[in-house]
Amino acid sequence: MKFLKLLSLLLLLLHSPKGDSASKIRCLETERQALLKFKHELVDTSGRLSSWGYEEHKRDCCKWGGVYCDNETSHVIRLDLNADPTRYYDAYLAHFDYAPLKGNVSTSLLELRQLQYLDLSYNDFEYVPIPKFIGSLNKLRYLYLHSANFWGPIPHHLGNLSKLLALDLSSNWNCYSESLDWVSHLHSLEFLDLSSTNLSNATTCLQAVSKLNSIRTLLLSDCGLQDIPPSSFPSKINASTPLTTLDLAHNSFKVSTLALIYWFSNFSNNGLTSIYFGGNRMPGPLPDVFASMTSLARLSLYETGLEGGIPNYFGNMNNLTYLDLSGNNLSGELSELTMNLSGPIQEKLEHLNLGDNSICGSFSNMSRFSSLQDLYLSENQLNGSILKGYLKLPHLLELDLSSNKLIGSVPDLSFSSSLEYLALDDNKLNGTLPESIGRLSKLRALFIASNSLKGTITEDFMSNLSQLWGLDLSSNPSLILKFNPHWVPLFQLLYLRLRHCILGPHFLSWLKTQRQLSYIDISSARISDNIPSWFAENVALDFIYLNVSNNQITGVFPGFSIFNSSPPTRRILDLSRNDISGSINFLCHARDWDLIDLSNNHFFGHIPDCFSDFESLRFLNLANNNFSGKIPHSFGSLSALSLLYLRNNSLSGELPTSMANLTNLMMIDVGGNRLTGKIPYWIGDQLSELKVLILRFNEFYGSIPSSLCGLVHIQILDLSSNKISGVIPNCVYQYFAMTEKKNESMPIMDHNTSIYGYPLGEVYHFQSAYFMWKGKEVKYVNNLGLVEIIDLSNNNLVGQIPSNITKLVGLVGLNFSTNNLSGPIPCNIGDLKSLDFLDFSRNHLSGSIPVGLGELTLGVLNLSYNNLAGKIPPIPQLQTYESAYIGNPDLCGCPLNKSCPGDESPHQDPNSGNNAMNYKEFEDDKFVTGEFYIALGVGFLVGFWGIFGTMLKTLFIEGWR
Ligand SMILES: *[C@@H]1O[C@H](CO)[C@@H](O)[C@H](O)[C@H]1NC(C)=O
Ligand SMILES: *[C@@H]1O[C@H](CO)[C@@H](O)[C@H](O)[C@H]1NC(C)=O
Ligand SMILES: *[C@@H]1O[C@H](CO)[C@@H](O)[C@H](O)[C@H]1NC(C)=O
Ligand SMILES: *[C@@H]1O[C@H](CO)[C@@H](O)[C@H](O)[C@H]1NC(C)=O
Repeated sequence: MKFLKLLSLLLLLLHSPKGDSASKIRCLETERQALLKFKHELVDTSGRLSSWGYEEHKRDCCKWGGVYCDNETSHVIRLDLNADPTRYYDAYLAHFDYAPLKGNVSTSLLELRQLQYLDLSYNDFEYVPIPKFIGSLNKLRYLYLHSANFWGPIPHHLGNLSKLLALDLSSNWNCYSESLDWVSHLHSLEFLDLSSTNLSNATTCLQAVSKLNSIRTLLLSDCGLQDIPPSSFPSKINASTPLTTLDLAHNSFKVSTLALIYWFSNFSNNGLTSIYFGGNRMPGPLPDVFASMTSLARLSLYETGLEGGIPNYFGNMNNLTYLDLSGNNLSGELSELTMNLSGPIQEKLEHLNLGDNSICGSFSNMSRFSSLQDLYLSENQLNGSILKGYLKLPHLLELDLSSNKLIGSVPDLSFSSSLEYLALDDNKLNGTLPESIGRLSKLRALFIASNSLKGTITEDFMSNLSQLWGLDLSSNPSLILKFNPHWVPLFQLLYLRLRHCILGPHFLSWLKTQRQLSYIDISSARISDNIPSWFAENVALDFIYLNVSNNQITGVFPGFSIFNSSPPTRRILDLSRNDISGSINFLCHARDWDLIDLSNNHFFGHIPDCFSDFESLRFLNLANNNFSGKIPHSFGSLSALSLLYLRNNSLSGELPTSMANLTNLMMIDVGGNRLTGKIPYWIGDQLSELKVLILRFNEFYGSIPSSLCGLVHIQILDLSSNKISGVIPNCVYQYFAMTEKKNESMPIMDHNTSIYGYPLGEVYHFQSAYFMWKGKEVKYVNNLGLVEIIDLSNNNLVGQIPSNITKLVGLVGLNFSTNNLSGPIPCNIGDLKSLDFLDFSRNHLSGSIPVGLGELTLGVLNLSYNNLAGKIPPIPQLQTYESAYIGNPDLCGCPLNKSCPGDESPHQDPNSGNNAMNYKEFEDDKFVTGEFYIALGVGFLVGFWGIFGTMLKTLFIEGWR
């Protein structure tokens, strides 16, 4: 239907005016002028209204695009300027060939006195209120303003449109209505869609609805509707409305959900055919209310908190074709659960979604549901193998069994020759991929990632898959992919993931034939090849996500020749961990990118100074390359930048002062360069969000500015191995984030969540950083736990250790080694209860060792080469650090082989002395054996899957059905 509508629109747009004689002109002059004025106030960048104009050959406004006149009266009766993007999506070029209309909706529309139909959906009115005057277009029967970016109160004037049959104001997320009283005047209304407008204050909406005697379709999903006490439900309803479709999904009903379903069942005189109530609360077993709804065809109760099984009355629901009970707590074995879906329903059911429940047991025979088109059982606990004949479903279009524990081989699905969507990812399937899958020529999406598939896939397997848009075979580490380098596939993919398969050693040559790829992940795929020259032109045409990391790709990166940025999206580029070289001037075109990771390659040259209007970049990783020269001044314009890694290059010069503008920075790692200058005052003054500051192994000099104490969120402060002099500021106790002792249990990495909100199987270490830990370089990654470290070692610091440093009770590591510090060790050092690593070696510290130190269970203690004196406190803990005390000539007592004056001869532990290690290492050193974690709390990519997912869904699901 949509297609036909579009076609007629196109025909009108293409209509040739030449053959028209003046005598045929029907358009009324007043209406023509009104339409021209209407156009004048709009902004039409893509020329959708180009057939509208003053020119002589455009005289007849009845022939203008989107304008329809009455055959007899010639009045304009219909204005259809719907800009639904799916109509304008060019799959071949993977972009949208239109721009929505913007501007002002002119009151000149009032001149169209006979207007019956007005559709401005999907245009962009840029947050203005819905015009009140529309309420005066009193002949209107159809008003569609879906998703048109209106804002503010819905004018109650619309209540004057007494002839209205259909009203759609949905998906104007910023529109609201305090009361739906105006709706109750629309006596003829048959269709009402206010979904995704805010009706949270419209508490009497049921009263308004109860007056709609003609209503057939009522769509109020995602309106913020709250519980209504059943006592205030309108009781006088004339239970004979023709209501058939009711959508109240995603509101905030918690206790009145069931009562509402009863009320509407009564209101519709038991005539409901479609009920959508998902996303509200209705905990407990599936209620009986549906038993009497014999006409019910579609029932959606996902995410309502349902428990238990499916009651046996479902078997008799003759007309039920669509059942969505996903995201609940349904439990029991699959065979038990589906047992009650026998009887007439089993031949009727076309769509069954039981995904994301707690269904267990082995996979049972589903073949009796002979009409099934869509079967979703993902995210359950199904185990066992899928036996032959269990999925003999001739009408099947979509099958999703992902995220279960299915074993055995991939089932033979040759019986389902219409299958379009197959998701078996994240199971334990083994063996080879059956050839029969390759013969499913209607297949659009093939997702079998994260299994244990073996064997070799060649072009023969895929040669029939001409419709394929999405392919994910990733994380099948034994799966080999081998293609003839000259193969030209019949498909044009949008989404491709082959990470962690055996794809190399050659680059995937058929990639060059793919013109619409938006998402490419061929990381960790054992590619050791030169980067092909076609890569830039063909592949990188319009990507959203491009990841070739962790291969052995060599050669000079050719850059990207085309930067197409419609629709504007966040882009992610990851070339890290390869052997790619060349300059990075191509980055200058990367204006709308979100995340760039070029780390661990051989890129060289200066970092170009071209970032002045980069507003989206939030993550930039250029670490471990051969960059030289200065950090460009224009970095200061990267206003969204959160994480910046430049470590291990040969950068020189000072940190540019423009970087003081980067107030969103959470992490800076510029360690291992030749940067110089004083540590800038503005770091502490302006970059107040910083959690990690790593300047180590550079040539910074001067003293530590007191402003650094302003970094109240700091968790890692590493200024080690510079030429910093002066004293340690007395204000370090202000490091607020370090004043709390964190939960001791080190969290394990959650492999199921990913930064994309998409189960990638492995967490992408975007937020990782490195620092020195007990003499080794250690990597820590984002997310859960907390690490707090101050490392000022290897500088020229003088003066005393500030005693208030002991307020930082969250500290895990403290390293002041190799400076010129003097004075005593703070006597309440024992307060640092989280400490695991303490190194004060090679200073001039004097005085005695505080007794409190014995209360700490340190992994490493090093106090060597100071001027400490007196007796080592005779606490067993302190005797375990073998070499912690050497080079302090005036220390005595155990474990040193030197007795103190007046003591007995020292007790010699027979086991000590053999250990040549400088420190005692605990066997289960949790900090080194595991990876470190730090809570950066950066939720910055959350939106990514949102955008991409919506697009995929539109294209995959709506586009093809
Ligand atoms: C108007 O004319 C068109 C084309 O001649 C015809 O298809 C349509 O049915 C007519 N409509 C009315 C209301 O007469
Ligand atoms: C709902 O009412 C509250 C309290 O009067 C008000 O603060 C809020 O802005 C209203 N929200 C909407 C969407 O009307
Ligand atoms: C079931 O649907 C058919 C049409 O598909 C209809 O004729 C019949 O009345 C419906 N049954 C009930 C009980 O509503
Ligand atoms: C697949 O796994 C099952 C057990 O899960 C095992 O019995 C079978 O031999 C495996 N098949 C192959 C081909 O590896």
